[in-house]
Amino acid sequence: MTQAPVLKIDTLTKKFGSRTIIDGISMDVTPGEIVCLVGPSGTGKSTLLRCVNGLEDIQGGRIVFEDEPVRAHSKKIIDVRKRVGMIFQQFNLYPHLTARQNIVLAQVVVHGVDRRSATERADELLARVRLAHRADAYPARLSGGEQQRVAIARALATNPHMLMFDEPTSALDPETVGEVLAVMREIAEERRTMLVVTHEMRFAAEVGTRMVFMDQGKIVEEGVPRELLAQPRTERAQRFLQSIRH
Ligand SMILES: Nc1ncnc2c1ncn2[C@@H]1O[C@H](COP(=O)(O)OP(=O)(O)OP(=O)(O)O)[C@@H](O)[C@H]1O
Ligand SMILES: [Mg+2]
Repeated sequence: MTQAPVLKIDTLTKKFGSRTIIDGISMDVTPGEIVCLVGPSGTGKSTLLRCVNGLEDIQGGRIVFEDEPVRAHSKKIIDVRKRVGMIFQQFNLYPHLTARQNIVLAQVVVHGVDRRSATERADELLARVRLAHRADAYPARLSGGEQQRVAIARALATNPHMLMFDEPTSALDPETVGEVLAVMREIAEERRTMLVVTHEMRFAAEVGTRMVFMDQGKIVEEGVPRELLAQPRTERAQRFLQSIRH
């Protein structure tokens, strides 16, 4: 039996001025899928995630998240954002709050969780991302990898129905990339629905259930990650994959 998609993107068009950035993309994500979105710089990957989160208005097509049409300025967009966890390249933690406070805040403010339960949940999640000992540290005192793990714990705190990652390890020192990928692997093992923009092809091959290769605002090719990586069908994907394998 096929499950209803969590996310439906149907012939989406996004323009900035007269430039078409997303050019008629259609894509569904079903529960438990881990979709890895790859492609050259400037291709529209981040823009696509921003459209899904209702951070950009769109010029054509439709995005539906769990039966809710996603529209940037609608009142209901808050309901969609509550159900989608977002993790960015630059962590985006509040600098004036400790790791624990960062994880408590969204639960209390957006979801109305009482502070005590929110704190318990924060501590539980900090332990899960192996940062229990850093709960009282401010972001400036944490390494990039630690900050990103706090950001992941924060995203998980409200039990989102889908997690979106935008190059979560691209801003990290090579030695801390592994610790963040390890946490992402554990989340993936829980069969959480994930949409991940990444250049980490090993992660994509081992963890992803589907790989979508985008170029110039279009989906050029998609498939099982290992198969696409081993034998890309299109010349464009072949060239891109060669370029990132040095
Ligand atoms: N707010 C904006 N106004 C105008 N153009 C924008 C805006 N945001 C993005 N763009 C343009 O849209 C195109 C796609 O950008 P996007 O950031 O989505 O690419 P990307 O695939 O995520 O690239 P990267 O791999 O470098 O992160 C780029 O040409 C970018 O300059
Ligand atoms: Mg990007």
